[in-house]
Amino acid sequence: MRPLRKIIFPAAGMGTRFLPATKASPKEMLTIVDKPLIQYGVEEALAAGMDNIIMVTGRGKRAIEDHFDISAELEANLKRAGKSKLYKEVSRIARMAEVVYVRQKQAKGLGHAVLCAEHWIADEAFGVHLADELIVHEKPAMQQLAEVYHKTGHSVVGLIQVPADQVYKYGIVAYEAEGHGLLRLTDMVEKPSIEDAPSHMAIVGRYIFTPRLMEILKDVQPGSGGEIQLTDAMAILAKEEPVHGVVLEGQRFDAGHPEGFLVANALLGLQHEAYGPALREALKTYLCE
Ligand code: UTP
Repeated sequence: MRPLRKIIFPAAGMGTRFLPATKASPKEMLTIVDKPLIQYGVEEALAAGMDNIIMVTGRGKRAIEDHFDISAELEANLKRAGKSKLYKEVSRIARMAEVVYVRQKQAKGLGHAVLCAEHWIADEAFGVHLADELIVHEKPAMQQLAEVYHKTGHSVVGLIQVPADQVYKYGIVAYEAEGHGLLRLTDMVEKPSIEDAPSHMAIVGRYIFTPRLMEILKDVQPGSGGEIQLTDAMAILAKEEPVHGVVLEGQRFDAGHPEGFLVANALLGLQHEAYGPALREALKTYLCE
């Protein structure tokens, strides 16, 4: 089995659930405590050994490229000012990974965004990471998937159990238990009604695919919302070859929506070594007033 090195970050969506914050700034640059969502994503990928990063961007997403680029002037200024901790952090971000950028000219859906990266994938297995799904655990989510891929050589999808009244927001899977905590996915439906949902197990933005997925995506027609859906391609893949599901461990936040974003900032802020104590005090003061 070839090592798993490549990972796609689709980041060309419109971010409509977070307007007006995302009108002129990329959703992926929204900050959780002290760093943008996309940096959490790249760090998670690197922890899983995936250091060949393909970022799919679109109009208005330049800030993502700048974030992972060398800013010679900023680095020189920080060095000159003796701010060595900040200098180290800023230069580390610019050098942490090889990133290539692919343009999705129109937001035609997640499946289409993944297909835009086809040239860089060739015939290797690859990861897909949705940065607005923030998952925090000592064993990073992509690593939890990679372990299953390395054991089986099959595609793997990250899942969480959601309440019945939430299934309409997610891609929902049908599955069979395979033992050792592993699920085999038999079908997937994008944003079903409660009546049509085959389970309450939802897909949450972490995937590893065999290269066959790219071939399938080329023939997928626009589905739910007129977009080319990754879920539709996955359903076809699961009929052709095994696709496993892993119920992810960790705290998960839908940070692409103000509600999930605020909860993530509050909880991770309170847990933060440097800022947590002050935040706790401030909340006590303001909430007791
Ligand atoms: P989302 O549906 O969560 O993102 O897509 P969105 O479309 O930006 O957000 P809303 O629903 O309008 O608020 C999941 C991921 O797929 C990317 C998004 O950037 C996000 O990371 N995506 C989606 C693309 O790259 N291209 C698309 O055409 C659609």
